[in-house]
Amino acid sequence: MSNSTPPEKTIPGKGKTKEAKPTSRPDGGTAQKKSTLNRVWHDENTQSELVRGDQHDYLQSIPSESVDCIWTDPPYFLSNDGSTCINGKRTSVNKGQWDQSAGLQADHDFNLAWLSECYRVLKPTGTIWVSGTHHVYFSVGMALMQIGFRLLNDIVWEKPNPPPNLGCRCFTHSTEMLLWAAKSPKGGKDRYTFNYADMKTANDGKQMKNVWRFTAPAKSEKTLGKHPTQKPIELIERCLLASTSAGEVVLDPFTGSGTTGVAAVNTGRTFLGCEIEAKYARLAAKRISAANEQAMPS
Ligand SMILES: C[S@@+](CC[C@H](N)C(=O)[O-])C[C@H]1O[C@@H](n2cnc3c(N)ncnc32)[C@H](O)[C@@H]1O
Repeated sequence: MSNSTPPEKTIPGKGKTKEAKPTSRPDGGTAQKKSTLNRVWHDENTQSELVRGDQHDYLQSIPSESVDCIWTDPPYFLSNDGSTCINGKRTSVNKGQWDQSAGLQADHDFNLAWLSECYRVLKPTGTIWVSGTHHVYFSVGMALMQIGFRLLNDIVWEKPNPPPNLGCRCFTHSTEMLLWAAKSPKGGKDRYTFNYADMKTANDGKQMKNVWRFTAPAKSEKTLGKHPTQKPIELIERCLLASTSAGEVVLDPFTGSGTTGVAAVNTGRTFLGCEIEAKYARLAAKRISAANEQAMPS
């Protein structure tokens, strides 16, 4: 079992230094830089891993039809010099260069490119969850349909305690959207997993609706460090419990602080993740490693 966070090592067979394709990021931030894939954490038992590098290169290294489920939270393209409210103070909305828009068409081309690779690596029975705000989910939904995915649900994540709207020129934003889609066509032989009865039980015996209420991640989920768009662990655990079985493979090509990895480890799934920013890859490695230590039988 390798459960620590070793110094980065180039992955044999994955670590070829090469020019990233221009579609890899629309903002020019990483698009033209040399890209390598370095494994920053792995667990031999489950074959889980976290890699630092560009999602484009990482997805290309994954065999076709080998992944059961994708849960991911790609750039929202909202870091365009506006402001928001954090802890009662006006703060820049900018999250990083990775979140800047390159224009509507370029952003959509980017979504088409990475979602097409996701389609290739998913098993015929697989499903994909994509989380986002209104800045991106229309493009993601359109791209999913253009590629041939079948939309199953739009899940509204409602936040009971959103930050106030400082501009007072529109309603307070208190939701994010999760799109859930299947690779298989309706009525085909390949059936995707939906653990309907488990969700009903978790909802006090009533059918679970598509509006979910979760607070933003608690302080206890940020003890190892912070990410500006960190998701609550419970939110992703619910998605994985609904759409996968124990031991299956879950992929997140935009891992951020590693919340999908923590949720996968906590629910006994194998995790494959990729994050381009070194500081977030280090944070994700720490969080996933800590969850894995806790999950190990004593
Ligand atoms: C919205 S955040 C994900 C947050 C994550 N769900 C969490 O709970 O922490 C998107 C992440 O994708 C990363 N990213 C952006 N472009 C990338 C690329 N081309 N390859 C890999 N990661 C990328 C960013 O650095 C950022 O951390």
